[in-house]
Amino acid sequence: AQVSPTGVPFEAADGDRDPRAQAGDTVTSPNGVRIPDTDHALKAGRRGPTLLEDFHLREKVSHFDHERIPERAVHARGAGAHGVFTANGSAASITRAPVLAEEGLQTPVFVRFSTVLGSRGSADTARDTRGFATKFYTKEGTWDLVGNNMPVFFVQEAIKFPDLIHAAKPSPDREIPQAQSAHDSFWDFVSLHTEATHHVLWNMSDRGIPRSYRMMEGFGVHSFRMVNQARETVLVQFKWTPKLGVHSLTWEEAQLAMGTDPDFHRRDLADAIEAGAFPEWELGVQVFPDTEDQMFEGIDLLDPTKIVPEEMVPVQTIGTLVLNANPTNYFSETEQVAFNTGHVVPGIEFTNDPLLQGRNFSYQDTQLTRLGGPNWTQLPINRPHAPVNDDHRDGFMQQGVPTGQAPYSPNTVDDGSPQPAGWDEGGYVVVPRKVEGEVVREVASSFDDHFSQPAMFWASLSDVEKTHTVEAYTFELGKVYEQAIKERVLVVLATVDTELASLVAGGLGLPAPEGTPVEHLPASPALAQVRGESFPLD
Ligand code: HEM
Repeated sequence: AQVSPTGVPFEAADGDRDPRAQAGDTVTSPNGVRIPDTDHALKAGRRGPTLLEDFHLREKVSHFDHERIPERAVHARGAGAHGVFTANGSAASITRAPVLAEEGLQTPVFVRFSTVLGSRGSADTARDTRGFATKFYTKEGTWDLVGNNMPVFFVQEAIKFPDLIHAAKPSPDREIPQAQSAHDSFWDFVSLHTEATHHVLWNMSDRGIPRSYRMMEGFGVHSFRMVNQARETVLVQFKWTPKLGVHSLTWEEAQLAMGTDPDFHRRDLADAIEAGAFPEWELGVQVFPDTEDQMFEGIDLLDPTKIVPEEMVPVQTIGTLVLNANPTNYFSETEQVAFNTGHVVPGIEFTNDPLLQGRNFSYQDTQLTRLGGPNWTQLPINRPHAPVNDDHRDGFMQQGVPTGQAPYSPNTVDDGSPQPAGWDEGGYVVVPRKVEGEVVREVASSFDDHFSQPAMFWASLSDVEKTHTVEAYTFELGKVYEQAIKERVLVVLATVDTELASLVAGGLGLPAPEGTPVEHLPASPALAQVRGESFPLD
């Protein structure tokens, strides 16, 4: 038994425990407090802001943030480039942020593309979501738009993010993605949390294996609030559209590239920039009225698993991004760059999307471990291109040598004490908004529909894309050992579309869920591999 410094033995409820093992049969906090609900954050109102008093949310997400040193906890594998963003001025009516509003204004940027799940040395062409993170070094401070190449996310709340990543990362025993537990746990998780269905369908479609970072769309995913000079607000969703169009690899090409050139995407980006073929994107926004309920035509704008179809609200272009310089040093730039959704500038504000609210905590928190303390904005790649006078002092890796005697503002001790900035001085003055509601660990019922949008996405695919998607499900589910998990996924798929479910069931050699007509896929290399048959590559 463990003994305290005063000699008193600790009595664990379940007796002596191996400190390496988890004990007991209920979910607990790190202090052993039993937790009634580990899926929802404490919020002021079902759709209200997340409360700081939620120690379980903070400890759970914070603990996750510190798990891996020093590679990124997610998105460890990446490639970056410098560039310039030029606003076309059309956003002036909706935001006072010059980076977006001032016609012709050029802002330097650094962009990092990434896969999510692989480690730093993993292959580029794995089937995965891709990160598309942009740091805008504006004169008003740094703005980070930390997006993905898919417009929706797996989970609706940040409190589930550690669980999602634990389920999807390589297996804890062998650290092999293809090991039994990793495939079983991923499909277990996404079939138990059916809000993931939409994102998983995007992953299984050709979007999961982009041909090039230069040929990917990017999405901010959440709704953000924009504020104009007249303090009027709208909600927006951001989208990057590549000038080269959207292209994917076939699954066979992706497999071959993984073996022959695991740096396929990295090399492609660096080579193109070096050759002067600078990749370009248009930045666009879908604009929605900032109504009290923050709904649009029945779609909850706070639910990050939903899109608003572009047929309903077209994307309006507000500027252009050109990537025109490779990093000089991978570590100093691509590795040390640190994004944070909490980095916004006047004219761009948050919404109550519970995933966004949690991210705003998580990125700052994770950098404390990854980049060795609170001074990571002093690293060259992260340094703002605006004057910094923050009264912060000391800490690990402090690189500044501040002068003066009074690190607080305002003060009358030092000459030239920094002054607060109001709206007219370009201060980050939040537009007041009303918050009310009961403190609950729940979401609104408008988050409940997990299947209509995946069904819409499936219906939008061409026959070739559908075949690829079915092959992807069949291949990935073919790696799952537990039959009950495969069957549960098939039930989820049948809820999306019976044809999809029966094709995947046929590929797996399993009966389709009851009431689903059985169809069979034509022979294909992916299916042949699932069945252990050899197939010619030509
Ligand atoms: C990293 C996107 C949700 C935690 C990243 C990166 C991207 C990204 C692009 C890589 C940044 C880089 O290149 O350095 C997204 C998107 C999300 C999402 C689009 C949902 C819409 C979350 C959530 C959490 C989270 C909910 C936690 C609660 C992290 C962490 C990193 C990361 C810890 C590593 C950051 C670093 O070490 O620099 N995310 N993410 N993300 N994300 Fe997210």
